[in-house]
Amino acid sequence: IIASFGDRVLAGLKVVVSAGPTYEDIDPVRFIGNRSSGKMGFAVAEAAVQAGAQVTLIAGPVSLATPPGIAMRADVRSAAQMHAAVMEAAADADIYIGAAAVGDYRPNARADNKLKKQSGSELTLQLIENPDILASLSAQQTHPFLVGFAAETQNVESYARDKLQRKGLDVIAANQVGDGLGFETADNALTLYWAGGVAELPRADKTALARQLIEHVAARYKAVRG
Ligand code: CTP
Ligand code: CA
Repeated sequence: IIASFGDRVLAGLKVVVSAGPTYEDIDPVRFIGNRSSGKMGFAVAEAAVQAGAQVTLIAGPVSLATPPGIAMRADVRSAAQMHAAVMEAAADADIYIGAAAVGDYRPNARADNKLKKQSGSELTLQLIENPDILASLSAQQTHPFLVGFAAETQNVESYARDKLQRKGLDVIAANQVGDGLGFETADNALTLYWAGGVAELPRADKTALARQLIEHVAARYKAVRG
């Protein structure tokens, strides 16, 4: 039995959630990644299922089991692959929640063979910018209700509010990271910002926090999309 909560606040809605890191390959054995575990995104996807949504989960490289009740899971590796998978899944979605830590840059070329060490000299990697998934969705004439995340080490509110505006988001969920906070932990704390308001979700395990996030997202969705 899947426990329901909050009166199935997302019943009848299609929700796409991205989760986890992306890996940008340098050569066949090396990549550039980040410290996202995917736990928060998977908890959000599970909470959306429990709230009655039809949920598609787009996962970067994580070692997490698919939560019960997920309608579809697509596993991707790079930011470019995640961009393509989300754009396809979100085409007919009501809500997109971008919990993934998408790599901002990728090596401009992936070497076909393992790079060999050149002892005594520096190695310079050329990086090019990846597409921004949320900004791509936001630029479309019709698009889902957009929820972003902002993991910041400083100036959390101003950076988060800037992303809310710049990416045309409906809600942004911000958290302080670094010094043992936020990554690879069971607990997290979030502050939600939207155009006319703010909500503090105090430190809790990611399951409880995800449920609160979904309650707020559902309320904001109903306020702006009827
Ligand atoms: N995001 C995205 N596509 C990208 C990069 C980020 O959709 N290529 C999304 C993330 O999933 C997250 C939100 O944008 O929901 C904010 O990500 P963040 O990395 O904090 O924003 P950036 O604009 O990349 O800013 P910076 O890394 O410089 O802080
Ligand atoms: Ca980024």
